[in-house]
Amino acid sequence: MEFSRRMDRLPPYLFAEIERKIAAKRDQGVDVISLGIGDPDLPTPDYVIAEMKRQLDDPRNHRYPSNAGVAEFGQAAAHFYRERFGVEIDPGNEFFPLLGSKEGLAHVCWAVLDPGDLALVPDPGYPVYAGSSILAGADVHLMPLLPENGFLPDLDAIPEDVARKAKLMFISYPNNPTAAVADLGFFRWVVDFAKTYDIAVVHDNAYSELTFDGYVAPSFLEVEGAKEVGFEFFSLSKPWNMTGWRIGFAVGNPQILEALWRLKTNLDSGMFEALQRTAATVLNGDLKFVDAMRAVYERRRDQLVKAFRDIGMDVEPPKGTIYLWMPVPDGYTSTSFAEHVLDQAGVVVTPGNGYGEAGEGFVRVSLTVPDDRIHEAVERIERSLKL
Ligand SMILES: Cc1ncc(COP(=O)(O)O)c(C=O)c1O
Repeated sequence: MEFSRRMDRLPPYLFAEIERKIAAKRDQGVDVISLGIGDPDLPTPDYVIAEMKRQLDDPRNHRYPSNAGVAEFGQAAAHFYRERFGVEIDPGNEFFPLLGSKEGLAHVCWAVLDPGDLALVPDPGYPVYAGSSILAGADVHLMPLLPENGFLPDLDAIPEDVARKAKLMFISYPNNPTAAVADLGFFRWVVDFAKTYDIAVVHDNAYSELTFDGYVAPSFLEVEGAKEVGFEFFSLSKPWNMTGWRIGFAVGNPQILEALWRLKTNLDSGMFEALQRTAATVLNGDLKFVDAMRAVYERRRDQLVKAFRDIGMDVEPPKGTIYLWMPVPDGYTSTSFAEHVLDQAGVVVTPGNGYGEAGEGFVRVSLTVPDDRIHEAVERIERSLKL
């Protein structure tokens, strides 16, 4: 059977490959510990489940949803952005519900990019930025995120002709996979750059709520002029352990959101309204649950960093996200280290080069496993390195 040419340009999806390898090992009877995927291990909080159950009983939620989202969800998102970031959002035209931010990241490419257009994509970066740009027929210019620049892209290093051609730019802080954070000064630089070259900016804000040591991550929209050039994706997935629920939203530039809305009216029929109303309760509520999750990840981060340092690995404690971005020991590449620990220790880490060439030399380690498994994983890695 022949498939479309766009499928030929698409690289295999990193995590699909990892899932396949884990399944193969488990089939061989190996007790695999996966530090590979950023999927919270703890359950969704009880108050969220109770609210969803209540919403399920309400027949007004049983019909086709409106694509634009229910008013309560938009108002709750605006409330959250005001309280958390001091950012004013007009729920009427600066808000749009999404079936998780991954869906939004993919579809915004279809709304903004034509074949032959150019997208600026961080390297390493969440694979959907490049994959969806390619699916939309666009070309990708990679912006290396280097340790010496604090894993921020150097916008001055983007050639003038590339900047002029670029139509869309992806950024994301706190960052997956490097776990780096960005300050408002960097976001200001992005806004100035985007205005100069007329580029639409997507800030993928999946991790702003999961930060450590008292660090509070800003929103891209806190910068003056940000809404003129771009918008932000926010997701309930990671802070509230809701990855399976598929719920997020976009806030910011009304023209881009209107285009996304027009596109999506042709693709799906909106989001289950019971879920939207439950999300409204989450965003209007207090954030104690997220405080507790921050404490869990901070504890695991400290344990993992200490344990890895004790076995001679050089890793910095990140200020946010649910990952460590760790240089591989001498003599290994990203892939050979990940393969070694999977084969010899039954532990999955994600090879950094899977997020782009500039990720070579690193692996990403996820904090989403219980504490006892963290210890066992590091012990097994230590044993495997002595082999
Ligand atoms: C940077 C980044 N953006 C987006 C997503 C997707 O999140 P969602 O569950 O909202 O689709 C992830 C998930 O791992 C992520 O790491």
